[in-house]
Amino acid sequence: MNFDFDNVIDRRGTAATKWDKYAGRDVIPMWVADMDFRSAPAIIEALKQRVEHGVFGYTDPPPELNEVVIDALARDYGWSIRPEWLMWLPGLVTGINLVARAIGEDGDDVVTAVPVYHPFLSGPAYQRRTVTRVPMHLQGTQWTWDLERLEAAITPRTRLLLLCNPHNPVGRVFSRGELNALARIAEQHNLIVASDEIHCGLILDREKFHIPIATLGADIAARTITLMSASKTFNLPGLGCAFAVVPNDELRARLARSAAGIVPRVSAMGFTATLAAYRDGEQWRRALVDYLRVNRDLVIERISAIDGWTLTPVEATYLAWICFDSRLREPAEFFERAGVGLYDGRVFGAEGYVRLNFGCPRALLEQALDRISSALIKPLATCGRA
Ligand SMILES: Cc1ncc(COP(=O)(O)O)c(C=O)c1O
Repeated sequence: MNFDFDNVIDRRGTAATKWDKYAGRDVIPMWVADMDFRSAPAIIEALKQRVEHGVFGYTDPPPELNEVVIDALARDYGWSIRPEWLMWLPGLVTGINLVARAIGEDGDDVVTAVPVYHPFLSGPAYQRRTVTRVPMHLQGTQWTWDLERLEAAITPRTRLLLLCNPHNPVGRVFSRGELNALARIAEQHNLIVASDEIHCGLILDREKFHIPIATLGADIAARTITLMSASKTFNLPGLGCAFAVVPNDELRARLARSAAGIVPRVSAMGFTATLAAYRDGEQWRRALVDYLRVNRDLVIERISAIDGWTLTPVEATYLAWICFDSRLREPAEFFERAGVGLYDGRVFGAEGYVRLNFGCPRALLEQALDRISSALIKPLATCGRA
């Protein structure tokens, strides 16, 4: 079956967060992480049928949904989980906050590596935890955890390690060796691990594969809360549905207590879309990954050709983490003026980078890359540099 990822869909006037930021301006938005593609036809069809039913009462996780997720985790990662380990959530950021709230006490430390998806930094702070940021280490062309600095950063009050794998924004798919090393450190220091694996369906490198850290052994499984969702892969973030896999009964109970009365149920639409995604979406997902791989290669080719700009391999996700010419002081503003909306790396805890979302039709991506290149042909001094 052919899927049309080239179709440019006008999202203006749909209250789209990504596009409305620049309403009335000629700026191609490549900042927040959603894609400009229609979701899989099977998902759209399932949603239509659900809408046709017309009754939208309180909804429980459909039993078939648990079965489909259990099958998908077994098929994709050889991970055998029990239905009671699943906890459904209205979003993955809710999960990050919930874990931070449930683990440890006020003032305890949460450790993570930067750059990282920004709610890893804000979430624990909202929950009155202190975030310790360990800078990631660039080994050749590969970003990786700096294990020595991680160990040095762990204090007697560190209770929780936040892992993002595949990693937003650096695009890494961590290897078994890297994950084993993190698991060992978590075990030695008695840390709970929250592993955000929302991008696991978006592995672009053919020789890489996703390994949930919880599959590495019984000890790490018992201390890990794995957070997943169909929302990135199938472009459903506006429908709000995610899940945690928590094999440890006591941890699950703690999460449930922290959620009580605060975290709302998942919507009927969120469940319907997620069920259709895991049950019927695989062909579409594979076609999407093929399309994104070509987009990624285009980004690498065009960005690497710019003097002073570099980017590391994007093994997964539709996000490129780009190191730019250090003379550019306010990159987001500079490129907005040039007609492209990028995220400033400082949002993710690192200076000197921008993040570019290439989850869009190729024609739009080409236009944005043209705008970036031509903006840089002008002397930087005339373009808003300090
Ligand atoms: C690593 C990561 N986790 C979580 C999210 C957001 O999840 P949700 O929309 O379900 O809260 C994103 C969105 O970009 C992400 O990149």
